[in-house]
Amino acid sequence: MTRQKILITGASSGLGAGMARAFAAKGRDLALCARRTDRLDELKAELADRHPNIKVAVAALDVNDHEAVPRVFGELAQEIGGLDRVIVNAGIGKGWPLGEGKPWANKATIETNLVAGLVQIETALEMFKKSGGGHLVLISSVLGNTGVPGGKAAYCASKAGMTSLGESLRAEYDKGPISITVLEPGYIESEMTARSASTMLMVDNETGVRAMVEAIEKEKGRAVVPRWPWAPLTQVMRLLPPKFTKHFA
Ligand SMILES: NC(=O)c1ccc[n+]([C@@H]2O[C@H](COP(=O)([O-])OP(=O)(O)OC[C@H]3O[C@@H](n4cnc5c(N)ncnc54)[C@H](OP(=O)(O)O)[C@@H]3O)[C@@H](O)[C@H]2O)c1
Repeated sequence: MTRQKILITGASSGLGAGMARAFAAKGRDLALCARRTDRLDELKAELADRHPNIKVAVAALDVNDHEAVPRVFGELAQEIGGLDRVIVNAGIGKGWPLGEGKPWANKATIETNLVAGLVQIETALEMFKKSGGGHLVLISSVLGNTGVPGGKAAYCASKAGMTSLGESLRAEYDKGPISITVLEPGYIESEMTARSASTMLMVDNETGVRAMVEAIEKEKGRAVVPRWPWAPLTQVMRLLPPKFTKHFA
């Protein structure tokens, strides 16, 4: 099934902008949101230039403004004539070792990645139920499979929560009409990973996004991307004794 009308949150940079470019190249109509509207406007101009036949709508959205989420999703849907895929992608990687005096950084990560993720999920599901179906994609992380020492504890917890929400929804909508995909990316070049200490096994944005879009288009229930080396590594992550997980931090 071709999902023609796709909404992506966190589309102003990194994986969100990369997915927007990849879906635009496939001729899909796009609804793109994030806080940095200058970036969205630039992206819209680039896509309109390269793919003049698609519709691209952009809007300012802070996903932590929970009342704005259904309003902005609704406005964007109206602008492009409906939604049949929503990609919950907006996220941050702030964090500090727990108990070392920066709880606000850890709280911000859990609020943005998990609580605001939940609000986007609720909104998308309500819209899909009204329209008769759709494809909900949750961008989790391989780090949702483990805990790590240091500043990424809250990030790991936020992604474990996201994966768990996705697994519940996969069970809930086993027979449709809503299709659910939980994506667990490994390390892919983006603004977030540019700030990260770990560049282990990092792939460039285009390679990572290609693997993501392929799994999304196949509407896989749950997929680790890129598959190699991350699919076997996530199995290892789940079994590793805690002291060895520092290699993923
Ligand atoms: N890159 C990786 O290796 C990797 C691996 C696994 C999972 N992920 C996940 O992939 C997603 C995208 O991350 P990325 O790597 O592409 O990082 P990025 O380049 O920093 O992009 C993050 C995006 O999220 C948006 N965002 C952040 N806070 C927001 C808020 N409060 N409201 C609305 N939008 C917000 C940002 O837009 P504004 O700042 O303009 O709002 C930006 O567009 C995240 O969920 C991340 O956890 C990434």
